[in-house]
Amino acid sequence: MLFSLLIAPAAAEAALPPSNPGTPPMSDSPWSLLPAASANAEALDTLYIFFWILCGIAFVGMIGVQAYFMWKYKKPAEGHAKTSPLTHNGKLEFIWSAIPTFFFVILFAWGEIEFMKQATPPPDAMDVRVTGQKWSWTIEYPEVKGCSLTNDLYVPVGVPMRLTMTSLDVIHSFYLPAFRLKKDVVPGRYTVLWFEATKPGLYPLMCTEYCGDEHSSMVGRVHVVAQEEYDAVLAKACELKQGETEPLEDFGARVVTRGGCASCHTTDGTVKTGPSFKGLFGRTETLSDGTTVTVDENYIRESILEPNAKIVSGFSPQMPSFAGRFDDKQIAALIAYIKAQK
Ligand code: CUA
Repeated sequence: MLFSLLIAPAAAEAALPPSNPGTPPMSDSPWSLLPAASANAEALDTLYIFFWILCGIAFVGMIGVQAYFMWKYKKPAEGHAKTSPLTHNGKLEFIWSAIPTFFFVILFAWGEIEFMKQATPPPDAMDVRVTGQKWSWTIEYPEVKGCSLTNDLYVPVGVPMRLTMTSLDVIHSFYLPAFRLKKDVVPGRYTVLWFEATKPGLYPLMCTEYCGDEHSSMVGRVHVVAQEEYDAVLAKACELKQGETEPLEDFGARVVTRGGCASCHTTDGTVKTGPSFKGLFGRTETLSDGTTVTVDENYIRESILEPNAKIVSGFSPQMPSFAGRFDDKQIAALIAYIKAQK
């Protein structure tokens, strides 16, 4: 629904690029397993398949014996079946208890070993910060100064990565199906996930905790790239500067994409969590305290840096601050972009 709203029929004004192109498909066929792109995923798949085969054998064994007994001990056509004089069989009971117990212990030990591996990030892991907010993921790379991406996680093959995650508002859940990882992202505390990617490719990233009406658009992409390309790819992804010949409002459109603004703001007049950018500039708005404000450069700038300072009546204070994420040039471009949405 989000996308159908965003991809409005070719409007005269510059259409807002979708803030989020969505996730790559999970797999080619509904019957195949999810792509496995980390050591953890491969290990868990092996455990899962072992468990699955075990269940299959147990199921066939139990249902098979049941079916056989139904046939063997069915009511005879004539007369009455005699009740067996046997009350129990100690040897048999021991066997049917010991064999499953043996396999349960194997499953426990195997699962525990994998769990412990997953719970302890290696000390040399590369750090990435993840912040969930309604309704996007901010991903920051401490080693690239000022790099803050929205919904795009870049990962080199063969390097352990540690994600330190928190939320600005409600509980979200960070889910990387191709790595078989999922963890809650909670306001006021840090949670940690780690993985080591094994296969280059593009994989889905999702929120799996219902966090509000745009929960389903809180999706992104994991770009796993070869180690030698990583620095260049990340630097390119992080760069957010106006091109030499690029008009300011076009640069502003890229800033909008980077900020994930379209999760809440449309350009076609549809009001979502925030006001639509269409016709916004120059309008006089009434605030919740009854005073009015004209939407000019100063008001937009303030709303980006301190979103809760002046809330227009009818809206709730839901926007996170972009102070420290957008610099003055990027904010100027954003203003130019909003001005252009007539
Ligand atoms: Cu965040 Cu659902």
